[in-house]
Amino acid sequence: MSFVVAIDGPAGSGKGTVTKLVGEKLGFVTFDTGAMYRAVSYYVLKNSINLEDKNEINKMLEDIDIKLEFEDRVQILYLNTERLVKELRTKEVNEIVSQVSHIPEVRTAMVDFQRKLANGIDVILEGRDIGTNVFPNADVKIYLDASAEERANRRLKQNLENGIDNISYEDILENIKFRDNNDKASSIAPLKQAEDAIYIDSSNLSIEEVVQKIVDIIEQKRKQK
Ligand code: DC
Repeated sequence: MSFVVAIDGPAGSGKGTVTKLVGEKLGFVTFDTGAMYRAVSYYVLKNSINLEDKNEINKMLEDIDIKLEFEDRVQILYLNTERLVKELRTKEVNEIVSQVSHIPEVRTAMVDFQRKLANGIDVILEGRDIGTNVFPNADVKIYLDASAEERANRRLKQNLENGIDNISYEDILENIKFRDNNDKASSIAPLKQAEDAIYIDSSNLSIEEVVQKIVDIIEQKRKQK
């Protein structure tokens, strides 16, 4: 029997780091679903796809093949055999990913893909709509939040660690606020806490504290299952 954990929340709430660490502690496979929308956005930019043209979008979705591999438990995404890491976190991708992720055809394809990936395994998926839409019956649902300023700080640090040093704190903060509004206001899979999700504000918590909280919640739930 599989055990599904959904970790949702806004950009920079710490979901990525926390999900990876919780997965390591518990031996769960983890999936970063944002990376999938970023990969589609990368393809859109590279192939100058017209987002207003449904035929082009459908053709693109047929042509796209996403594969995930794990190196030291870190998810590496291959888009039609192209290995994408830094390419998923560029300014250009940041600027269009919210728009791309709100295209209904893109969402349907990604949600389908995510459900197939998680089928039958113990898994943690992190994203925006995992608990509300992808796995409404997930065993554990977490909604991880933090203030916009704290999230911008974290994203800046993460970028620098990944060798991206050409995006300022102000640009990141502006992009985070813009994406928050877009993600929350969307009529398609808006970013919102599932009713049965546990809310964690990580603004004043260390990564270890958040990880431990989530591990405790999962272990308690597993005992009951
Ligand atoms: O978590 P992230 O910043 O890598 O996500 C990139 C974008 O993808 C973000 O604008 C929201 C969108 N997204 C989504 O709509 N649904 C998901 N499950 C994950 C991400």
